[in-house]
Amino acid sequence: MGKHWDNVYNSGSSPWAGVPDKLQEKIKSLEPKPKTALDLGCGQGDKSLWLAEQGYQVTGIDVSKEAIEQAKAKRSDESNPVFLEEDLTKPSALDFPDQSFGLVLDLLAVHFLQADVQARIYKKIHSLLVPGGFVIHSRLNALNNQAPGWVTRLPVTPDAFEKMLAGFTVVEKVVSKSKNLPETDSYFYILQRKPG
Ligand SMILES: C[S@@+](CC[C@H](N)C(=O)[O-])C[C@H]1O[C@@H](n2cnc3c(N)ncnc32)[C@H](O)[C@@H]1O
Repeated sequence: MGKHWDNVYNSGSSPWAGVPDKLQEKIKSLEPKPKTALDLGCGQGDKSLWLAEQGYQVTGIDVSKEAIEQAKAKRSDESNPVFLEEDLTKPSALDFPDQSFGLVLDLLAVHFLQADVQARIYKKIHSLLVPGGFVIHSRLNALNNQAPGWVTRLPVTPDAFEKMLAGFTVVEKVVSKSKNLPETDSYFYILQRKPG
């Protein structure tokens, strides 16, 4: 799996790079403002680096060695963000103490993984967040088989994903047409860990 993503990052094609203004606004509006963040499938690290500039202590995880190397090369402070080459399909990738984070980013990352793995990861995210902590999540959903093959093969629909969210409140859900992909809806969520 890492090799596939290494090839993507070596090819220089990563339309998700950068930090869209809308995402910046959403993160700046979170109340209470989290201090720590975990960026799942952080890619070349742009979101992690931006969060660190905003004062967060950040950990970014990605399965691609190439992406992690590119992310580390952009960093001026080795202690923040911390970038780790880890495979999220392995439970050990999320081996952090409970309540370590106030914010988890899962932007077009966990949606690639099998349904049972996604369910396990969301259960784990719940315990890694402080009560009241946030998840910002995005995923794609193919509307029919005119969408690119890799989207039609995504293993979990948004409806099935939402069944995995016991313990979270859906604070915001925005569905829009994907800018880059035909016949594909883009789902954006802000989730908040319920108290307790
Ligand atoms: C579409 S990119 C999104 C990158 C980043 N979240 C962003 O929005 O800029 C998906 C990322 O998920 C990572 N990824 C895919 N499967 C993974 C896994 N099993 N463990 C960790 N990262 C994974 C890929 O290497 C890639 O960087």
